[in-house]
Amino acid sequence: MGKQNIYILGIESSCDDTAASVIHNGRILSNIVANQKIHEAYGGVVPELASRAHQQNIVPVVHEALKKAQISKEDLHAIAFTRGPGLMGSLLVGTSFAKSMAYGLNIPLIDVNHMQGHILAHFIDEEGYNKPPFPFLAMTISGGHTQIVRVDNYFDMTVIGETIDDAVGEAFDKSGKVLGLGYPAGPEIDKRAKLGNPKAFNFTKPKVDGLNFSFSGLKTAILYFIQHETKANTHFIEENLNDICASIQHTIIGILIDKLKLASKQTGIKHIAIGGGVSANSGIRQALKDGEQKFGWTTYVPKFEFTTDNAAMIAIVGYLKYLEADFAEQHVAASARLKI
Ligand code: KG4
Ligand code: ZN
Repeated sequence: MGKQNIYILGIESSCDDTAASVIHNGRILSNIVANQKIHEAYGGVVPELASRAHQQNIVPVVHEALKKAQISKEDLHAIAFTRGPGLMGSLLVGTSFAKSMAYGLNIPLIDVNHMQGHILAHFIDEEGYNKPPFPFLAMTISGGHTQIVRVDNYFDMTVIGETIDDAVGEAFDKSGKVLGLGYPAGPEIDKRAKLGNPKAFNFTKPKVDGLNFSFSGLKTAILYFIQHETKANTHFIEENLNDICASIQHTIIGILIDKLKLASKQTGIKHIAIGGGVSANSGIRQALKDGEQKFGWTTYVPKFEFTTDNAAMIAIVGYLKYLEADFAEQHVAASARLKI
């Protein structure tokens, strides 16, 4: 990669966060996210409302990203946007905005796969963060996905394991709902888990062959357990909340680490990265660190602001594709089920 001066705007709108980011070469100049608080009242993302909120947020968010980066839109070399996977109504807002902006500025348009974004966020230039060498294993854990991906190059990725039902983030969020916690519950379970005993309660891990995951059984097991205990003691949840959270988190992390161990053994790859909203979890971060000692892994954990949905990860993919002149046509369509 020669010396250059490339500015790319990244736009992310696949779910309920409207985000924009400017990257200068490999370095992030701005990373703006507007969270949609409106979904909290419903205990989950309401697609119609998400789409409408994106429409309201996208112009101010992009404006803010350019302002923070101290550049004007005429300085941009390309516009990268999330093409999928995600909610169709949400994707359409970012896609059509990116198209018209690129068209208006007469600069290239770059389509980005959201899941590749979560993985390639590790290639953002950031002090104190090393970039994984190829090949490495990436476990993407979020509210919508749970995958183990073999990464042989930036755009040479193979999914070698994934969930057959719920995503791991849903396991956090739905357990939280049973416990009466707000949405999304992952961060609060994480916080409470630090104060509780991870061995207080025992939840059986699902038995799924190979590198695939399953989380729907765990969700049901937790629901029945809570129903059973609260029948005997109506104050069970409030009296044991931290221990319950710690035990749930401990079980989930055990499931994730077991599969990573198997994936590492099967592939012989010991460079392991995580990404996605659940990679913000302090327990999984610690478990990965422990894996360095226990299994000889070298691990890569993203900076917090690049874990949950953000546009910096879209901008870095945009930059990497720009270097390969891998551009999209104006007629490119959003794709809710886009595969890696
Ligand atoms: O990547 P993301 O922002 O959106 C999707 O693409 O799904 O991930 C959101 C998910 C939610 O399920 C949320 O509960 C979870 O990430 N999450 C966490 C933590 N922070 C966010 N789960 C566990 N511990 C956390 N600290
Ligand atoms: Zn995501």
